Amino acid sequence: MFRPAAAVLAALVSGLWCGLCAAGTSQQLNYRPIIGVLAQENLPGDQLARGSSYIAASYVKYLEGAGARVVPIRINRTEEEYVKLFNSINGLLLPGGDVDIQTSLFTRAAKIFYSLALKANDAGDYFPIWGTCQGFQQLSVLTANKNLLTLTDTKAVALPLTFTSVAQSSRLFRTFPKDLMQSLAQQNITPNFHSWSLSMQNYTRNAKLRKFYKVLSTNTDGKKEFISTMEAYRYPFYAVQWHPEKSQFEWIDKPGMSHSTAAVTASFYTAAFFVSEAMKSNHHFSSAAEEEKALIYNYSPVFKGIYAIFIQNYYFD
Ligand SMILES: *[C@@H]1O[C@H](CO)[C@@H](O)[C@H](O)[C@H]1NC(C)=O
Ligand SMILES: *[C@@H]1O[C@H](CO)[C@@H](O)[C@H](O)[C@H]1NC(C)=O
Repeated sequence: MFRPAAAVLAALVSGLWCGLCAAGTSQQLNYRPIIGVLAQENLPGDQLARGSSYIAASYVKYLEGAGARVVPIRINRTEEEYVKLFNSINGLLLPGGDVDIQTSLFTRAAKIFYSLALKANDAGDYFPIWGTCQGFQQLSVLTANKNLLTLTDTKAVALPLTFTSVAQSSRLFRTFPKDLMQSLAQQNITPNFHSWSLSMQNYTRNAKLRKFYKVLSTNTDGKKEFISTMEAYRYPFYAVQWHPEKSQFEWIDKPGMSHSTAAVTASFYTAAFFVSEAMKSNHHFSSAAEEEKALIYNYSPVFKGIYAIFIQNYYFD
């Protein structure tokens, strides 16, 4: 009579205590994950901007399409607010964009969440972070504690990934189907829209970066080899210099975009992976009312035009 209850309790307790080892199997997963997406200062000259910051809707749809809900993390909030939010959400996505990754309010917030995530994971409280493009670059600056980026000719180009020997066994890629890995390795399906890159040279020369991140793929602009995908060794932190979300959700008519089935499938697999990581977090809002107030559904995206760099943006004061 009591045995089943005891077993359930034991499973619960081990689930709660499992933390980083949770990559494992026996943990209770959180099938209602909520991921924070960090806003950033509006682009200069954005005619349709309202307020002072935005989130491109493509990042929201990208996560929603893989089974997560989204909470916007607004810039210029107090540290107390960020701590409270950190303890309410199950992961953080740092999106692409165009702000100063050392002095912006985006960076200020990213730094606070990054420190909280380091501490939490160290204590066995699983908390994943995903960085895309500018988010990748931001993570490199936060880990190295300086900006080691270099200019590359990668402003609008779709590339195949050059996988490293450890990609196949990485947490991020090991769940990808073989034919998808083949498409990623052979076809020009990863959209690149960046002027700055983390070169293999600077990564290799910097002990902090080298010890923290495992390089999963590289690319080159013809002159410099740069990192296109990496994951942290000891933390559930992931970074892509390319833009998975654009294949499904952005429609700017430029070289560098790819809407092929393989590109869309690759995008989905990255999102599904990150959402599965967020399912290992047990953070939650203090009440259903708090959760309801925080979700992105309280805001409406603005249509920017069919050829805009972001087809829809959410704006915040
Ligand atoms: C937000 O920015 C305004 C100035 O633009 C400032 O007065 C205010 O203190 C800032 N709030 C926080 C939480 O940093
Ligand atoms: C290495 O980083 C420095 C900044 O510290 C930068 O000026 C330089 O261009 C980078 N070199 C390469 C090859 O990435």
